[in-house]
Amino acid sequence: MQQTIPAKQIDGERLWRALMELARIGATPKGGVRRLTLTDVDRQGRDLFVRWCREAGMEVRVDGIGNIFARRAGADAQAPPVMMGSHLDSQPSGGKFDGAYGVMAGLEVIRTLNDAGVTTRAPLEVTAWTNEEGSRFVPTLMGSGVFAGVHTLESVLVQRDAEGISVKDALNAIGYAGEAQPHRVGAYFEAHIEQGPVLESSKTTIGVVQGALGQRWFDVAIAGQDSHAGPTPMETRQDALVAASRLVLEVNRIATTFPDYARGTVGFMQVKPNSRNVVPGEVRMTVDLRNAKDATLSAMAEELKRRLRAIETECRVAMELREVVYFPPSEFAPELVAAVRQAAQALGLSHCDIVSGAAHDAVYLSRVAPTAMVFVPCEGGISHNEIESATPADIAAGCNVLLHAVLAKAGIAQSSRKAA
Ligand code: GLV
Ligand code: MN
Ligand code: MN
Repeated sequence: MQQTIPAKQIDGERLWRALMELARIGATPKGGVRRLTLTDVDRQGRDLFVRWCREAGMEVRVDGIGNIFARRAGADAQAPPVMMGSHLDSQPSGGKFDGAYGVMAGLEVIRTLNDAGVTTRAPLEVTAWTNEEGSRFVPTLMGSGVFAGVHTLESVLVQRDAEGISVKDALNAIGYAGEAQPHRVGAYFEAHIEQGPVLESSKTTIGVVQGALGQRWFDVAIAGQDSHAGPTPMETRQDALVAASRLVLEVNRIATTFPDYARGTVGFMQVKPNSRNVVPGEVRMTVDLRNAKDATLSAMAEELKRRLRAIETECRVAMELREVVYFPPSEFAPELVAAVRQAAQALGLSHCDIVSGAAHDAVYLSRVAPTAMVFVPCEGGISHNEIESATPADIAAGCNVLLHAVLAKAGIAQSSRKAA
């Protein structure tokens, strides 16, 4: 911490105003946002972010999957940038803070350094990653996955949403298909709301994130037979929804009986023909499994497959299981995690170590650069919900930790005005 400016604080009111202005784009009646990736509202959010970055004197570049990189020069132009970022896309009924916080916090760090006349040794970069949520297009963490070399650009551009629109067409339609190439990153920091109850219930302001749960996502297609709800005897039905319902219960059972932070969710289901007096002949659904240990995550997936085969026979349907996302549990860089902890300590903020149950772009960035995350509490631990909420004080505290951790890593070359 010796190279940082201990008394320097970000402008919490300015950060809050930026978050609230951004949240007007795609605002929903219950106070959340619907800013699905690569839609016109996503474009509006991106345009606002780009304008603010340019006004802050940053140079903006966009890569082939639409990731936005805004750079503030450092004294050493050869040094790889210290990057801060997250995502601007949201869930269909998402909140104001998931993703937006990490991007706006990065921008607030830059604005603070501009006000203070601080030049860092390494350049700084604020990044907005494309399609973190994975809600409209799979795979999730799409932009950071391409940047980190986990996916090729070609393989994700051909992915289609439920309406059959491709990523490539959606990107072109909003004007965010750029040409920037992947570049070296000196360190990556992501600030985020916790999205769970640990910090709030322990009255702790800062979560020092150690890593994130591994995930396996599946698409399941169930084919039975449409038939009349009256004349068709129960014992001959090929009811795809009964099979799907049994699978939902199995996913829940697996997640509640396996150890190591096991989680299991069916969050999406389409039933056809969806008519009250027709035995459903077709279901499409998703399964999301998570765990802190890779071996346990694999065991959960094996158990899912075993139960699926049994249900298939018992329900006289055909069930197809396709894995669409897999990443093992990730561990963040001890040196950067320590910088986050030290920043919290130096600022006198309560803090604790925590594991992220959610996926973040940091998961893939950690494969190409030392990475760490800063968590702040959210009300009731609720996220992926329009009512998602956080306090201005916690939002500011997390951004102050981000500022000091970033400065510890980037170094200060020069500090001319209002610096203490
Ligand atoms: C990302 O929001 C996730 O599913 O964890
Ligand atoms: Mn997020
Ligand atoms: Mn999310």
